[in-house]
Amino acid sequence: MNSTPEADWLNLLIGLLQGAQLQLLRVLDALGLAQHVHGQPAWPWARRLSGENLLIDLGQARSLAWTLVFVAMAVLALLLALFWRRPRFYFLALVPMLLIAAPWPEAHVVLVRATPASFQSSPTGFTAASIARGRGLYEQNCVACHGADGKGEGPLAASLAVWPPNLSGPLLWRRADGDLLWRILHGTRAAPQGGNITMPGFAGKLDEADAWALIDYMKALGAGQSLRALGSWPQPIGLPDMVVRCGAQPPRPLASWRGQRVRIVAGDAMPTEDPRLMTVLLVQPSSPASTMAAADCVAESAAAWEALALIAGTDRLAGVQLIADRDGWLRARGEPGKAGWSDDDLICRSERATGAASDVAAPPADGLGALIARMDAEPVRFVKGGFIH
Ligand code: HEC
Repeated sequence: MNSTPEADWLNLLIGLLQGAQLQLLRVLDALGLAQHVHGQPAWPWARRLSGENLLIDLGQARSLAWTLVFVAMAVLALLLALFWRRPRFYFLALVPMLLIAAPWPEAHVVLVRATPASFQSSPTGFTAASIARGRGLYEQNCVACHGADGKGEGPLAASLAVWPPNLSGPLLWRRADGDLLWRILHGTRAAPQGGNITMPGFAGKLDEADAWALIDYMKALGAGQSLRALGSWPQPIGLPDMVVRCGAQPPRPLASWRGQRVRIVAGDAMPTEDPRLMTVLLVQPSSPASTMAAADCVAESAAAWEALALIAGTDRLAGVQLIADRDGWLRARGEPGKAGWSDDDLICRSERATGAASDVAAPPADGLGALIARMDAEPVRFVKGGFIH
């Protein structure tokens, strides 16, 4: 996550590019012009506009943003020429001038190699059930090369031409999810066309639901490994979806609370409810009924327990609390038995936006208030639209 003052417009630019390409694909699909692959419309071109490179090369991002402004002005001049007869010549003359004056970015930075699945995303979203499913598939198919911890040191790794990458680093977050899907199903090559196979494809053995589950599992595994090694989540990780029951109401997905802050409390002791958060007690299916009676909302799920233990990087989840922000990103962890919260518990940080601290009108009186104020002032950036996560 970047923290320059440019962060806001860059986030906007990347979101815009992603949205525009996705809409283009939807229009093609609606017109019957897009083929389908792995159950979703396929990107028909070999290249796409790259969000990930723009994040790294700010100069090119700036050029691209200005070029878009110039092109928009050129389009406007064309429209004016069409509808406004007398000054038509001047408007028409302006069009090539604008296009020549635009600071066009370098194509090799702005355009990257696409796969047909580049703009696809998991039809189920990031869920506890798919993380649990991914775990089994990973152990059967991937662990020999990638290793149980995803660091790329499985027993077969040393015999390969290319060392498998560290899945707990930023790699998974830099790639579009759809490109990861494509690589799992179709393998990777040393060179895009005809190079030696560096990882075999699994299309004959796994279907796309399996591959999405593997992607969810690898992200959860990577988050847990980062937390163990660094004590933080340098790459943002979402709160996986799970089914929650509140009193006598019908069960509902946790994701339906998007827009509110959510606290997950794992285990038996239920802390007091707090109006600033939706609190959900997470229990394993074998838990006694008395435990569940203590909480307004309960998620009773072995898969969710397993998924959150993985993300929290611990074998003992009981007593751990996790807080997700309004956008559904996991931001803070509370250790078992810890008395209160403080803003140091924020373990997924984006750097403070300039002046954000002073935007908080009255300093919050308690630790949880301080944590929430900081979490809200520092939203997770550069993850919208499938470019980075
Ligand atoms: C035979 C060993 C082997 C097996 C089995 C294997 N991988 Fe890989 N994997 C590799 C190697 C080597 C690379 C690096 C390829 C490269 O950079 O060209 C890689 C790369 C990857 C990447 C990163 C791709 C990218 O975009 O850079 C992902 C994700 C991945 N593997 C997932 C999986 C999953 C999921 C499985 C199980 C279904 C799996 N791998 C099974 C060897 C393996």
